[in-house]
Amino acid sequence: MEGEVAMGNSYDQEGFFEQYAKMPRSRDGLSAAGEWHQFKPLFPPLEGKAVLDLGCGYGWHCRFAAEQGAERVLGLDLSRNMIEEAERHNPEGRIEYQVCGIEDYEYPKDGWDCVVSNLALHYIEDLEKVFQDVYKTLKPGGVFLFNIEHPVFTAGVGQDWEYTKEGAPRHWPVDQYFFPGKRNTRFLGCDVVKQHHTLTQILMGLLNHGFELKAVVEAEPPEEMMDLPGMRDELRRPMMLLVKAAVKKG
Ligand SMILES: C[S@@+](CC[C@H](N)C(=O)[O-])C[C@H]1O[C@@H](n2cnc3c(N)ncnc32)[C@H](O)[C@@H]1O
Repeated sequence: MEGEVAMGNSYDQEGFFEQYAKMPRSRDGLSAAGEWHQFKPLFPPLEGKAVLDLGCGYGWHCRFAAEQGAERVLGLDLSRNMIEEAERHNPEGRIEYQVCGIEDYEYPKDGWDCVVSNLALHYIEDLEKVFQDVYKTLKPGGVFLFNIEHPVFTAGVGQDWEYTKEGAPRHWPVDQYFFPGKRNTRFLGCDVVKQHHTLTQILMGLLNHGFELKAVVEAEPPEEMMDLPGMRDELRRPMMLLVKAAVKKG
């Protein structure tokens, strides 16, 4: 696995996928995700609603939507491995999954009540196009809820700490902040390409495409997770940006 360059479909590379499967959030789902206690309350009521998940991975958020009574749930992911794993936990077939890029889906006009995306949009180069597509596909009053890696994180040098001689995180170096675009990073022992977007691009991008901002949260892990290795360091710089936006059209 060392030295592999993982592009958009990094999750289909065997070594990477195996490592991903070992992460607590992969094994145990939403309750093991440090941001869930802040992300969950941002969901609108989903009873009887149509929900689209962009970059659904194992489908945890799709399952949550189905449990909340959503009438239709579609999860899209570029990775065949991820979709196969999601299908394994979809016994009644209540959720539809498709191997499909976020950029490639044909977004139907006024087709969905809620579009959710958790930790996938930092793989997208043209975020503006996604905002345009999501705006089009949401029904009037619909909600776009996403969690993207925070710009302070994606502008991190190598997206890693600088360490002391003893191996403890010294600080989080940020550089080239106002130069959005491709970042070569290491994630789970693999080379992974991500995309850096500035805070202005993310928030103004939504406003410029007609969205109304409802909530912006810089995720902090809950107190009960603080004893997990490395978790307290998550308070030294933001890693995730949670955004809830609504469409005003209609
Ligand atoms: C960190 S995982 C998050 C998965 C899931 N949303 C979750 O929170 O459990 C990122 C996911 O985004 C998917 N992904 C990356 N780029 C994508 C793209 N261009 N289109 C669709 N999915 C993509 C990956 O395959 C992976 O499943």
